[in-house]
Amino acid sequence: MSDPSPPVRTAVVGSGAIARGVHLPALADMGDRVHLAALVDVDEALVAETADAWGVRGRYTDVHAMLAAESPDLVVVCTPPVAHKDTVIAGLDAGAWVWCEKPPALSLAEYDEAAAHEGEHGPFAGYVFQHRFGSGAERLRRHIRQGTLGRPLVGVCNTLWYRDPEYFGVPWRGRWDTEGGGPSMGHGIHQMDLMLSLLGDWTEVTSVMSTIARPVQTEDVSMAIVRCESGAKISVTNSLLSPRQTSYLRFDFEDATVELEHLYGYDNAHWRWTPAPHADQEGAVASWQPEENVPSSHRAQLGSLLDSMERGERPRASGHDGRRALELVAGMYQSAVLGETVRRRELTPESGFYHSMYGGDARAAASALTRTEPSTSA
Ligand SMILES: NC(=O)c1ccc[n+]([C@@H]2O[C@H](COP(=O)([O-])OP(=O)(O)OC[C@H]3O[C@@H](n4cnc5c(N)ncnc54)[C@H](O)[C@@H]3O)[C@@H](O)[C@H]2O)c1
Repeated sequence: MSDPSPPVRTAVVGSGAIARGVHLPALADMGDRVHLAALVDVDEALVAETADAWGVRGRYTDVHAMLAAESPDLVVVCTPPVAHKDTVIAGLDAGAWVWCEKPPALSLAEYDEAAAHEGEHGPFAGYVFQHRFGSGAERLRRHIRQGTLGRPLVGVCNTLWYRDPEYFGVPWRGRWDTEGGGPSMGHGIHQMDLMLSLLGDWTEVTSVMSTIARPVQTEDVSMAIVRCESGAKISVTNSLLSPRQTSYLRFDFEDATVELEHLYGYDNAHWRWTPAPHADQEGAVASWQPEENVPSSHRAQLGSLLDSMERGERPRASGHDGRRALELVAGMYQSAVLGETVRRRELTPESGFYHSMYGGDARAAASALTRTEPSTSA
């Protein structure tokens, strides 16, 4: 029998809410597979407090100092979006694999710049899209691959969440230069990623966005119609103004409707499967029962990432597979700001929306997002 692999020496950069609440527990759940070697945060008191609480020896306020001293195998990036790209590049250049929180970067240009620092056989950068990894989504993915549901025809992708004005008191939120965008970029990206990871690439998008009620530079509501390469049409709504919160995905295939309704995470009970009238009702329902119940979670994605590291293979939600939702978000912003339908192939370095989600002209973006149509009443 071969010896078990040594623990993956891991460093977490950014010791704020998501690091403490989610990543550190997920890493601890990995047991002997992971050794948490170091924490980094620009806030020295916070990093010391967090390192004490989790029994971590290495504590740093600078990522480069940490990389030089610790040579980790894996860097987990939990900083605000504005620091993602440089931290991912620093980790890759130091020879570490990287797992970075969403949104992957502030723009497609940043994403591609970071990807250019990957090696042909690793290290690779993967991005946090935890909703792909629950057993309900994995079961649906297998059905789609096997073609048992017929063609996908129609989709609904709603992220209707509520964030009060105080939520935007955190200085990096609601700003183009630090968060990169509003609910399209920071909140609905999870549902859009799950939808596209199941249905494949999109070809064109028509979108409207507004800043209706929150003290932000970006939108607080966005709506879009998306056409997929398969021909399927998806309607998307992302809102931070919806008191009864829900995350809702609906897939209408030729032979069944599959729905997922949850809020911030799901298990098998959140999925619903309705066979088409012509389908074998009992057979369809029986084939839908997943044999295990794995909730969507950072833990599930981290396990998959560690498996990829062991095999030396590009992880899921990396490369083109990690970029798809960001690309749709860029297309949505271009469509909303310019008032036109955007084709995916137009999002090249020649487009201002490749370089920043607002297209580089903050005044034009602000005017498009707050535009009110002239009243037609007398
Ligand atoms: N996957 C999810 O479901 C999910 C949920 C919430 C947040 N997030 C994402 O996680 C990231 C962090 O969000 P949060 O809520 O934890 O934010 P936060 O503000 O609570 O924490 C961020 C921490 O990063 C530190 N920091 C900032 N710049 C740094 C740098 N250059 N080097 C080291 N540390 C730095 C800050 O001091 C802060 O402690 C964001 O990208 C956010 O979108 C993901």
